[in-house]
Amino acid sequence: MNRAAVLTGVGSCLPPRAVPNDELAAGLDSSEEWIRSRTGIGQRYFAERGTATSDLAVGAGERALKSAGVSTVDAVLVATTTPDRPCPATAPVVAARLGMRGTAAYDVSAVCTGFVYGLATAAGLIAAGVADRVLVIGAETFSTLLDPGDRSTAVIFGDGAGAVVLRSGDPAEPGALGPFDLGSDGAGEDLITVPAGGSRQRLSGVEPAAGERYFAMSGKEVFRHAVLRMAGSARTVLARAGWRARDVDHLVSHQANLRITNHVADDLGIPRGRCVSNIAEVGNTAAASIPLALDQAHTEGLLRPGGRMLLTAFGGGLTWGSTVLTWPDLDPARA
Ligand code: UT7
Repeated sequence: MNRAAVLTGVGSCLPPRAVPNDELAAGLDSSEEWIRSRTGIGQRYFAERGTATSDLAVGAGERALKSAGVSTVDAVLVATTTPDRPCPATAPVVAARLGMRGTAAYDVSAVCTGFVYGLATAAGLIAAGVADRVLVIGAETFSTLLDPGDRSTAVIFGDGAGAVVLRSGDPAEPGALGPFDLGSDGAGEDLITVPAGGSRQRLSGVEPAAGERYFAMSGKEVFRHAVLRMAGSARTVLARAGWRARDVDHLVSHQANLRITNHVADDLGIPRGRCVSNIAEVGNTAAASIPLALDQAHTEGLLRPGGRMLLTAFGGGLTWGSTVLTWPDLDPARA
């Protein structure tokens, strides 16, 4: 029998401080109206001083483990663009803090596609018999990368974490992930980037210019790629699964911009009402965005067991990826 990765628990964690559009717009020659109408964002959460990505990852991981009714797994993967430190990875720290010293743990680096890449990696570990249970966390303190003076990025991103527990199971049972579609195009590396801090800049022998340590994005071009790649990848995965677009009950796309989500839904022929969206409350949380959206929709009772879910993401790299599953009957008492 093929061993599938079956979703058996979900959880999330947000820092306590919500930052409304008004608070950011004031210093940026922007406005609540511009931010809401161009992105769908109403507020985002920023981590407090003294917090790190691992703190949010541990919070989401604890809740996902509780939701799955387990206290340990065989591997912990953390998808993040904002590790606690450049070295070591954040996942071993998270595993140890979750009481799993000795457990395999590593980071997945694919920016906003990181969580979908993490799911595929976990599914591979399970299929190969390397692990029976894997905790996959998407966690970000993206606020640490933002140039507070760059209105084209400072108003978009937020902090948070989401997580799922996957266990080995039957490909035909509810919650089984797959098929997958993953892709990348490194020719677009400059479209979403933190130019300084890596070997490219350090070996240039040139000190970074002001601003090069911050995140930078070519918004308009990225918008176009995001729609094209998420819709294309979603189509590939639907064909592999033998599903039609109208079979999809819930489209969970990376929460980059509400207008991007709507374009992807329109392109695929999925009614906009079937899009799971929490960008109004949390903004773009990069690798955390899909598991955060899943957990919030689950907690609010929006996902009925057996509902057919299409997950699709796009991000820096450029990278993209998609998968499908039917929503499992998770025990609400463990939420
Ligand atoms: O998560 C990884 C993937 N990320 C994404 O997919 C994000 C993709 N990009 C976007 O979501 C959008 O491109 C943005 C939200 C970043 C920008 O929206 P846009 O509608 O593409 O605006 P634009 O960049 O074309 O700018 C239009 C105008 C410009 O002014 P001018 O040149 O027309 O005078 C900008 O300077 O809007 C201006 N602008 C702003 N105005 C007020 C840009 N940001 C702001 C702002 N407030 N925050």
